[in-house]
Amino acid sequence: MKKDILIVYYTQSGQMKQILENLVTDMHGDCNITWEEITPSVKYPFPWTAKSFFNVMPESVQAIPCSLDYPTDNANKEWDLVILGYPIWYLSPAIPVTSFLKSDYAKKLLNNQKIVTVIGSRNMWAAAQEDLKKLLKDIGGNLVGNIVLRDRHQNLMSVGSIVHWMFTGLKTKKGIFPKPGVSDNDIKNSSRFGSVILEALKNNNFTDLQNNLLKVKAVDYLPDIASMELKAKRIFNIWSNIILKKAKKGNEARDKWVKIFKYYLFAVIIVLSPIASLVVYVTYPLFFPFILKKKRYYTSCELKEK
Ligand SMILES: Cc1cc2nc3c(=O)[nH]c(=O)nc-3n(C[C@H](O)[C@H](O)[C@H](O)COP(=O)(O)O)c2cc1C
Repeated sequence: MKKDILIVYYTQSGQMKQILENLVTDMHGDCNITWEEITPSVKYPFPWTAKSFFNVMPESVQAIPCSLDYPTDNANKEWDLVILGYPIWYLSPAIPVTSFLKSDYAKKLLNNQKIVTVIGSRNMWAAAQEDLKKLLKDIGGNLVGNIVLRDRHQNLMSVGSIVHWMFTGLKTKKGIFPKPGVSDNDIKNSSRFGSVILEALKNNNFTDLQNNLLKVKAVDYLPDIASMELKAKRIFNIWSNIILKKAKKGNEARDKWVKIFKYYLFAVIIVLSPIASLVVYVTYPLFFPFILKKKRYYTSCELKEK
């Protein structure tokens, strides 16, 4: 009998949908696949303006939900697996995805459900996946796999190229900056993950799914980037609280503080991030066992409550 798969996703540019379509290429013969797009009641802009782009930081980091439309009701059906595809906003799951996971609808849909997450990011995803693990735990979801696709270019080059992409809507090369986002090749090759998932579905055994996904390079853990983003997430927490507090005084105060955050962010990315990367690589041999332990944890589906 064919397996019933539900794919829930959010995308602005269409990149996440493309990844998921490629991922399930070899699954169609054995599975009935249902698609459900997470749709905010008021769409986030794409392309973004600079103001709107930086303005979503506080709500992203503090997981403050937006209102969603629910065109379909897939919560009353039985699923063999749910695949959740999501982008990262400010080291957190994108606001529409957080909103979905906090909804009563998701609680009904995902409770006791086996879930594979698929991330389409620039390169900083580890902190967001921790948030997502907690959100799933809160609603009784059972995370059995995680796949991460990212921009493979050098950190600063990918910052330059994503700015061009987000502010023009064009996923194209610009000057010295390469084509942004997940490469066409990586998108196409994501079909290999579908084959591993299908094997687990056929055997009805998901215990080794994440290990088997890791064997086909489902998660590419970068110790310098992960170390940076986990520290940055704590600082974003402080910034988001400050901005939300200032916003109580009105939009003008909020705009001013969002602008200050923007300059702070660029300074940190351009000045501090190359130094932080260098420090991690120079001290790599000293901290190797510690880095390995972190890698094992962040590439797994395990959740350690801190
Ligand atoms: C507001 C905003 C913030 C983002 N922050 C991050 C981030 O912290 N880490 C990261 O790896 N990618 C980040 N990205 C890139 C997205 O994760 C994603 O790769 C890109 O937006 C394309 O996704 P799409 O399928 O929705 O078009 C950000 C994108 C947006 C729009």
